[in-house]
Amino acid sequence: PKTILIGAPIDAGQRRPGCLMGPAAYRVAGLAQAIAGLGHAVTDWGDLACPEVAAPPCPNPAVHSLAEVLGWTQVLSGRVAAALDEGAMPVVLGGDHSLALGSVAGAATHAARAGRPLFLLWLDAHSDFHTPLTTTSGNLHGTPVAYIAGRAGFDAFPPFPAPLPADRICLYGIRSVDPAEHAALLDHDIAINDMRVLDEHGVVAPLRAFLEQVAAAGGMLHVSLDVDFLDPAIAPAVGTTVPGGTTFREAHLVMELLHESGLVTSLDLVELNPFLDDRGMTARLMVDLVGSLMGRKVFDRPTRAK
Ligand code: ARG
Ligand code: MN
Ligand code: MN
Ligand code: MN
Repeated sequence: PKTILIGAPIDAGQRRPGCLMGPAAYRVAGLAQAIAGLGHAVTDWGDLACPEVAAPPCPNPAVHSLAEVLGWTQVLSGRVAAALDEGAMPVVLGGDHSLALGSVAGAATHAARAGRPLFLLWLDAHSDFHTPLTTTSGNLHGTPVAYIAGRAGFDAFPPFPAPLPADRICLYGIRSVDPAEHAALLDHDIAINDMRVLDEHGVVAPLRAFLEQVAAAGGMLHVSLDVDFLDPAIAPAVGTTVPGGTTFREAHLVMELLHESGLVTSLDLVELNPFLDDRGMTARLMVDLVGSLMGRKVFDRPTRAK
């Protein structure tokens, strides 16, 4: 299997500086070596640069850095589609979560060309379901799921290629939703595995149910992993910590199930802010989790029968 690392040092989707150093921190923490050690052929495309583009004025005055986010969306969409076209799994090293506006657009572009349905697993404390018209923070990292689902309000952006129907999107780990997002989510039939659901049913059953849907449809699966999916005690290096996140063991189990499914075709690692880290512990944990997603096991048992 081929893996392509794509550095996306973007921090324009929120206001706290530091995410720019994310790709560098993943390289220092040994991401490429960890993946290569599991038998994958790894190529690092280095860090992308943001093209200068012009953005139309946004009707919501809170929105900031629209042109920069738009530039990243364009370049990432092209590069992620190109990596998939090469038959590789792109791993996008962020950078804040606004990069998913581009990475998932690229995955959708490839999926449409390949004639396969694309599914999205959003591992995050947040639903990121604002549009540029509803966000009150003005931070565009809070908007990618709405763009991917084809909500109105993204006039400045290229139309999302084949927006995902609600039943192909799974939000997982959710515990912070703004009022405008809440109202919009109730209008869409998106699977919302918030912490209430995961505490009651455990992490396995809701994930298996979604993966079975992806498998039955012969789908491609994009996984977007936000650092704040994890509990702040084990992953402090993120600007938007929310208490009550997934534990070390839960997160590894999620990654192991994803590996066993064989369904993951592209991956984002987002919101790591190395300036907030504690001796690299968050960067290292993220690399560790990617290891589990890519096939590392304590014992190599036959996959559990479904
Ligand atoms: N809902 C909040 C906002 O729109 C937080 C978004 C956090 N998103 C993230 N990708 N960390 O500002
Ligand atoms: Mn997010
Ligand atoms: Mn988040
Ligand atoms: Mn908000």
